[in-house]
Amino acid sequence: MEKPTKRILSGVQPSGDLHLGNYLGAIKNFVSLQKEYECFFCVVDLHAITVWQDPKVLANKTREVTAAFIASGIDPKKNNIFVQSQVPQHAQLGWLFNCVARMGWLNRMTQFKDKAGKNSENVSVGLFSYPTLMAADILIYLATHVPVGDDQKQHLELTRDIAQKFNNDFKTDFFPIPEPLILGEATRVMSLRDGSKKMSKSDPSDYSRIMLTDTAENITQKIKKAKTDPEPLPQDKTGLEKRPEAENLISIFASLQDTSIESVIKDYAGKEFSTFKKDLADLSVSKLEPITSEMNKLMSDVSYIDSILNQGKENAIAVAEPVLQKTKEIIGFLS
Ligand code: AMP
Ligand code: TRP
Repeated sequence: MEKPTKRILSGVQPSGDLHLGNYLGAIKNFVSLQKEYECFFCVVDLHAITVWQDPKVLANKTREVTAAFIASGIDPKKNNIFVQSQVPQHAQLGWLFNCVARMGWLNRMTQFKDKAGKNSENVSVGLFSYPTLMAADILIYLATHVPVGDDQKQHLELTRDIAQKFNNDFKTDFFPIPEPLILGEATRVMSLRDGSKKMSKSDPSDYSRIMLTDTAENITQKIKKAKTDPEPLPQDKTGLEKRPEAENLISIFASLQDTSIESVIKDYAGKEFSTFKKDLADLSVSKLEPITSEMNKLMSDVSYIDSILNQGKENAIAVAEPVLQKTKEIIGFLS
């Protein structure tokens, strides 16, 4: 089997409206990486159902993530965009990896601890074994690189551990050890209401996040109301880590403008946040509005989106099936 040297896989869950964290931490990077890599972009619905999803809206959310990929600039003809549950090889390899990963490894996953909280006896088994399926998503394509936001770093390390253990146990070098690509100035976008919390789909406050479905007015309002401290913008980066809200807004600005945090600080040194927020709102609207309107346009033509996903599914299966067969052969299953 020919091994790829530059192949990307990444996944986004269809579990709610996409927000600025998803865009800056992941999707925006997918767009720039598509030139250099062979790409597989997966809407991970099997991961989404590790917590309750309303059956009446799940299909639409799945199409919406697809529309967001395309509207952001991922070329659906050159890349493979597909749905995880439509490629059964993911779940099959996921089971095999459940038998490779160790309980102790999964017990250390901070995302599980955060999501389960005090409720750990009552969450689904799937939420606990979530990272083994994520490893399968990646390794079923022998992907070499995985662009993600900073919050997925630990899951990527687990994926590397699974690949390594499988290779060691079966004395093979079949699975690559994939590299994370955590890129840009906004790898961890924080809540607009609390600089110590990640921007997330599950935050109860709408004002904590900017959604890709927000109107220009919503965006401007949310940025205006975003929490800051009373000081003006700093003269340099020193001490910025002690001002999480300021650091967050500056990182968002830098990432949206494709520049560095240093350069944004240089432009706004000593200025009031009211001035900065006005410019940040204008910049956000100018970057996000075209994506939102393209998403809306795409969502009005479901059959187009479904045809992209169908083609993506076929391409994905053509790559995934031989990898699954080879894995089963290595393990010693009858063929
Ligand atoms: P999810 O919505 O959890 O499926 O996440 C999809 C992608 O967005 C992953 O690569 C995450 O790492 C990334 N992501 C999610 N939230 C954030 C955030 N607040 N900041 C940066 N990246 C994020
Ligand atoms: N766990 C990722 C998240 O919540 C989503 C995901 C599932 C993923 N499978 C993946 C990301 C494979 C990268 C590669 O954000």
